[in-house]
Amino acid sequence: LLEHGGRLRAAAEYYGISLNNWLDLSTGINPNGWQVPSIPADCWQRLPEHNDDLLTAAQHYYRNEFILPVAGSQAAIQALPLLRKPSKVGILCPAYAEHAYSWQQTGHTILSLSADAIDDNIADIDVLILINPNNPSGHTFTSTQINIWHQQLKQRAGWLIIDEAFIDTCPELSFSAYPVSDGLIILRSIGKFFGLAGIRCGFVISTPDLLHQLADKLGPWTISHPSRHVAKLALEDHAWQHDAQVLLRRQGYKLHQLLSTNGLTPSGGCDLFQWVVTEQAEEIHKSLAKTGILTRLFSQPASIRFGLPGKEQDWERLAQALPRIYL
Ligand SMILES: Cc1ncc(COP(=O)(O)O)c(C=O)c1O
Repeated sequence: LLEHGGRLRAAAEYYGISLNNWLDLSTGINPNGWQVPSIPADCWQRLPEHNDDLLTAAQHYYRNEFILPVAGSQAAIQALPLLRKPSKVGILCPAYAEHAYSWQQTGHTILSLSADAIDDNIADIDVLILINPNNPSGHTFTSTQINIWHQQLKQRAGWLIIDEAFIDTCPELSFSAYPVSDGLIILRSIGKFFGLAGIRCGFVISTPDLLHQLADKLGPWTISHPSRHVAKLALEDHAWQHDAQVLLRRQGYKLHQLLSTNGLTPSGGCDLFQWVVTEQAEEIHKSLAKTGILTRLFSQPASIRFGLPGKEQDWERLAQALPRIYL
């Protein structure tokens, strides 16, 4: 299994700091997520039904009729490679590593690409996977670029997969509302913007044929009934979504400024995290961890990702720790 942010228990054990004394900045999950109300008894007792109100809520939020709810976009990341014969797959580097891992595990050939190298290599690949905005670099792609790549791949029965896990605060970049088209597959997560990573719910938008194949591969009841209920309510809460967009944009900027004033100017990022590339990434990560602040360390390139602090006292704690980093 690959390493991810959010492994607070392992950090607590390693650094000998009790679980509730940590400030966890190791993920890109909204720390002020949608507040879950009490769950009706029916949700625990009855099997979930695939044609419940979740689908309608998702169709409305993502502005597309053709949607498949899945148990987190991760479920789709793992299943999509099973739907193609051995293919040559272009994947961004650095990027959320589960994409490359899943395609590799299922016998496909991976070509690691920087964003700049896609144009030169598109003719040689069958599948292109973009993360928009990219995790951890925050790199974004324009709709013009994406359309050109999609058309090129489509001519050869290729796929363009766009992982939009971190796009909810910049919906103008999203392809979710575009008419579905052969070879275009959009992944959405409810874990990041809504701060509901624990319910394991996400969505795939594509042609009915592709969604049918994927649903068949994943089998019945992949999302629990309580999760479907919570996801539906969150997707319907337009007032919360509006406020969260405004707040997260402000907080993303605030984190960028805080890091910059402490000599850690981010090389990239998005509203939900900032990415600092530095030779001293490991030392900085360890120094912060010793004070109970967990960040996400990357080795290629040496870099750290900072998620957003939630409460005012968490911002204060980070502001006090940054000038005291010892190397
Ligand atoms: C870019 C990206 N895509 C997808 C996922 C999977 O998210 P989920 O399965 O919670 O939707 C993650 C999780 O960190 C991610 O960073």
